[in-house]
Amino acid sequence: MSETKSTARYRPETRLVHAGALRSQFGETSEALFLTQGFVYDSAEQCEARFKGEEPGFLYSRFSNPNVSMFERRMIELEGAEAARATATGMAAVTTAILAPLKAGDHVVAAKAMFGSCRYVVEDLLPRYGIQSTLVDGLDLDQWRRAMRPNTKSCFLESPTNPTLDVLDIGSIAEIAHKAGARLIVDNVFATPIWQSPLSLAPTSWCIPPPSTSTARAAASAASSCPRMPSSPSTSTISCARPARRCRRSMPGCC
Ligand SMILES: Cc1ncc(COP(=O)(O)O)c(C=O)c1O
Repeated sequence: MSETKSTARYRPETRLVHAGALRSQFGETSEALFLTQGFVYDSAEQCEARFKGEEPGFLYSRFSNPNVSMFERRMIELEGAEAARATATGMAAVTTAILAPLKAGDHVVAAKAMFGSCRYVVEDLLPRYGIQSTLVDGLDLDQWRRAMRPNTKSCFLESPTNPTLDVLDIGSIAEIAHKAGARLIVDNVFATPIWQSPLSLAPTSWCIPPPSTSTARAAASAASSCPRMPSSPSTSTISCARPARRCRRSMPGCC
């Protein structure tokens, strides 16, 4: 497969369609659909090298396939991220981004104005795993500051919030979070990367739940979590935090 060059110099409309595209040896103009769960290898040695993460390439569609990879590459370009992970729904992205980096005993601070299902994750799901949370008025920076504890590992916000459309100060909240040693996770669903770039406001980990519009052309029909990679200790890397040798998705932009 060949990769298209960066589309950074093109207009957003073009980038939405072409960024990150992978083209097969047949030279198709639009994205091909890869309706396969497995892949073939030239030799048993190559198969072994792929499974060990020593050689880049696809293994199994649950890990990745060319369509998912294309979608992730597109999100990396549009969001200015260093890596992306696609999930099947927005809530899968939000749940993974919030839950995966935490363990029992950790604490989360979140803005209380949020989409009901996200609130369910913070208020109902986290305590089941021994993770406490504090909900704050997201517009009040002092409340964010006061809510931080030594064991606060993540802050979570939506901006604009669904459904109240509060616009939060992502840069300042990121500063508060990072000072406390926590990562900031931003649900960017309403603004989308076309109107708001959380990664340029602060080194954050963030999610895009998938409005059907953004995924209409993505055969992967996925949401994504696009973390900044570990230049900052407060950065969430979600599953890309795995050492490269254990990452089974050794595709461009991953690990
Ligand atoms: C702010 C926000 N986050 C997460 C989601 C969940 O996305 P999905 O329905 O794809 O799981 C939504 C859905 O509307 C949303 O508005």
